[in-house]
Amino acid sequence: MSPVTSFTIRKTEFQNRVFVASGTFGYGDEVGNLVDTSLLGGIMTKSLSLKPRAGNPPRRIVETPSGMLNSIGLANIGVEKFLKEKLPFLRSLRTKIIANIAASSTDEYCEVLRLMDSEEGIAGYEINVSCPNVKEGGLSFGTDCKKVREITEKLRLLTDRPLIIKLTPNVTHISEFARAAQEAGADAISAINTLVGLAIDLRTRKPKLSTVTGGLSGPAIKPVALAKVYEIAQAVEIPIIGIGGIASTEDALEFLIVGASAVQIGTMNFVEPSIAGTIARGIEEYAQRQNLKDVGELVGTLDANIEFSPLYSWLH
Ligand code: DHB
Repeated sequence: MSPVTSFTIRKTEFQNRVFVASGTFGYGDEVGNLVDTSLLGGIMTKSLSLKPRAGNPPRRIVETPSGMLNSIGLANIGVEKFLKEKLPFLRSLRTKIIANIAASSTDEYCEVLRLMDSEEGIAGYEINVSCPNVKEGGLSFGTDCKKVREITEKLRLLTDRPLIIKLTPNVTHISEFARAAQEAGADAISAINTLVGLAIDLRTRKPKLSTVTGGLSGPAIKPVALAKVYEIAQAVEIPIIGIGGIASTEDALEFLIVGASAVQIGTMNFVEPSIAGTIARGIEEYAQRQNLKDVGELVGTLDANIEFSPLYSWLH
């Protein structure tokens, strides 16, 4: 028998545990003909703000070893245009749509969510309190535990849909932020967003990105992401959606084992746009081979009891 692949966040059921990460899948329409989106647990939209944003000047993307740096600056069409021009297509897809929201004030987050909450076809919200590339909001919110708590509390009052807080790894103890979000009413945590990084052009001795630093993503950050998800999993009861350099079924399984209830595929969508569907299928096959009734049986099953061989004590 095939294992159960679905899982639930705040009464909303998702058909499987594999999502595509915000900013790597546009508004779902750019890859429409390339990818079978009905294989996905859901789509996280590019971050939406109240007004359209042009984003940062070029250069905004640089390839780095096993990853990339970006400084998009939250370029997006704004919530009104999204609702009018993009949501009708997204609604027609056989997967769930999570709207990712970015803002430079608590009021702006609230206003964007309020506008969306009266519309059908948005399954939930992922709140970006962790963009490294903007002056206002972004990381200044995501690295301030009180602010994360305040934003979560205010948004919780406005919606009964799943509220997911996306955290930055650019802090000392990410679990403190996860705990604050949980206490303030979040239904889930997404982790991790990108790590601040810098690339240099040796011919000019200038930074490669126009904003000097940017957000590092891709397989290069996977071990960091696994450690952060593991840390959060020890601290909260709400589900964690693990993100960071997932490039294969095996990578996704590692995130489930350290405590993520679901995963997002980000940077690898640029390499292989259909990879998330392939990974969703791969997880199901693994669970079947392991004779599991439900993929969820894998979550948080890391055996962290390290047994040292007798040889070790003899050597010391
Ligand atoms: C952007 C936003 C992010 O949250 C991120 O991790 C990287 C880039 C951006 O739009 O600049």
